[in-house]
Amino acid sequence: MRIVLVGPPGAGKGTQAAFLARNLSIPHISTGDLFRANISRQTELGKLAKSYMDAGNLVPDEVTIAMAKDRMEQPDAENGFLLDGFPRNVSQAEALDELLEAENMQLDAVLDLEVPEDEVVKRIAGRRICRNDSSHVFHVTYKQPAKDGVCDVCGGELYQRDDDSEETVRTRLEVYHTQTEPIIDYYKAQGLVVTISALGKVEDVTTRAMEALKRGGDGK
Ligand code: AP5
Repeated sequence: MRIVLVGPPGAGKGTQAAFLARNLSIPHISTGDLFRANISRQTELGKLAKSYMDAGNLVPDEVTIAMAKDRMEQPDAENGFLLDGFPRNVSQAEALDELLEAENMQLDAVLDLEVPEDEVVKRIAGRRICRNDSSHVFHVTYKQPAKDGVCDVCGGELYQRDDDSEETVRTRLEVYHTQTEPIIDYYKAQGLVVTISALGKVEDVTTRAMEALKRGGDGK
């Protein structure tokens, strides 16, 4: 299956992607995680991305699309993938369509996670991630690690993302509404969008998502 996950910052895309990717045996491809891995390796791409990410803005399309394409072309993504955080504007969605078309492939669904803004703010404020791997995600209230400040998965140090400050979150939400939300209409026109509520326990959201994916897109 080829799935795009969309939703505001802090909706739980990364959290759900980890479970969905495992259930569906496809790789979880997060452009945010790819940028953060580049930042910790201090690559040129990481240095460029950091300035945009810290301000809550989108990294330029050119580098983002090239990075996503490179990851989607890895052998583990041959039979499908779960995209988290890409595409993030209509130009990226058009670029993804072109990439898929060139390979005679198509998306199966766009899973849209709906969460009210006050809940998103609470989720982001309490989020802690692992220094070794930003896909290891915890929360000070909702998903506490067994040992304070230590990742349950690999023992790495947990920290708060630089872009999770109150001011940057406001910008990220605005960017989401103005630049990312329009891709929902773009994909609705292709009959691919499945919208679910992402409120409630993590496992209940996963069950809801799996059922919605089985039902498929809402049709044109
Ligand atoms: P990215 O890393 O993609 O961030 P985001 O979209 O803002 O999403 P988040 O990672 O903040 O949230 P999430 O929905 O994954 O929530 P999570 O599962 O962690 O992008 C960061 C930046 O990179 C962008 O701002 C941009 O600069 C750049 N970038 C990335 N992709 C790009 C692109 N395509 N183009 C250009 N620039 C790009 O959950 C949040 C918290 O809530 C966690 O603590 C979790 O434990 C908790 N939680 C999750 N589910 C539940 C639940 N059901 N109940 C209670 N708590 C929950």
